[in-house]
Amino acid sequence: MTALEVVRAAAGLDEYLASVEAELGRAVERRPGVVAEVGRGALDAGGKRLRPALAFLSSSPEDDPPVAAGAAVELVHMATLVHDDLIDGASVRRGRAAAWSEHGERAAKAAGDYLFARAFSVLAETGDPTAVALLADSSLALARGEAMQRRQRHDPDTTVDDYLERCALKTGALFEAACVLGGGSREYGRLLGIAFQIADDVLDCTGDTIETGKVPGTDLQDGTPTVPLLLAAQEDPVVRDALAGGPKEGVLVRVAASGALDQSRELALHYASEARSRLDGAPRRDELEALTRAVVERRS
Ligand code: IPE
Ligand code: IPE
Ligand code: MG
Ligand code: MG
Ligand code: MG
Repeated sequence: MTALEVVRAAAGLDEYLASVEAELGRAVERRPGVVAEVGRGALDAGGKRLRPALAFLSSSPEDDPPVAAGAAVELVHMATLVHDDLIDGASVRRGRAAAWSEHGERAAKAAGDYLFARAFSVLAETGDPTAVALLADSSLALARGEAMQRRQRHDPDTTVDDYLERCALKTGALFEAACVLGGGSREYGRLLGIAFQIADDVLDCTGDTIETGKVPGTDLQDGTPTVPLLLAAQEDPVVRDALAGGPKEGVLVRVAASGALDQSRELALHYASEARSRLDGAPRRDELEALTRAVVERRS
C-alpha cells in the first residue's frame, strides 16, 4: 500500500469527508448571489480536502467527528486560494480557470471574503469561542505570511530561515488549526504544513498541469523566492538574475540541472520526519505517519 492509500483507507474517513462536503455546500449556498456562485465554482473544482482529513485524523475515534471544524478550515483554505491566485497572477487552479480569470478581480476578492466569513460562521454555530479564536489566529498568520512573501519578492538573498518562517505562517498555521480543532498536536500540524509547502514549491518547478491542476513556473514568473529557486540561485547567476526580475526563459531547466530540487526534497523530508516525531500517543498514529510521507511523495 502506498502512503496515500493508507491515509485514504482510514476507517470512517470517507463518510466524514462526505459530511464535510455537504456542510461546505450548505455554507456556500447560504446567501445566494454572485459571490455564492463563484464560491460554488471553487467548491465544485474539488481539491484534495487535506485539511479536513487532517482534522479527522487528529480526532479520537471515540469522539464525534469534527465536521464543522473540517468544513471551516476548508472554507478558509478555499478563501485563501481564491485570493492567492489573484495575488500570484495564476490563471489556472484545480485544472480550471481560477476565479479571478473567469469572473474578474472584484468578484474574486468579494468571493474570497465571503468564503472567509462563511468559515467563521460555520464554526461559531458550534458555540465554541476557543475554536473560533484559533481559526482567527491562523487566518491572521496566513495574511502575515502572504505579506512577508510580498516583502521577499524578487529578493534572491532571502534566507532559507526567512523562507521557512513564511511557510510556517502561510501554510503551517492552517494545518495547525486543523490538527488542534480535531484534538491533535499543534507542532505536528505546523511541521507537516512546512513539509507540504516545500513540496508544493518543488512541484511548481517540476510539476505537470495534468497532475497539479496548476501552471508550473508561477513562482519564478512572479519572483517568489521559494527554496528550490533560492538554492539554485546560489549556484547559478542566471537563476539569481531571473529571481531578481530578469529574463525567465530556460531558467526552470537550469533549476532542474542544479542540485536544488534534491536538496529541497531533502528539506521537505526533514520536516516530515520532525512531524512524525510529534505523534506520541496519537490515536490514529499510523494514518498520520503515512500522511507525512504522502505530502512529500505527492505529485498533485
Ligand atoms: C494549495 O493547497 C495551497 C498550498 C498551501 C500550497 P492544496 O494543494 O491543498 O490545494 P487543493 O485544496 O488540493 O487544491
Ligand atoms: C500557498 O502558496 C498559498 C496559500 C497558503 C494561500 P502558493 O501560492 O504556492 O499556492 P499555490 O501553488 O498557488 O496553490
Ligand atoms: Mg499561488
Ligand atoms: Mg501564493
Ligand atoms: Mg505553489
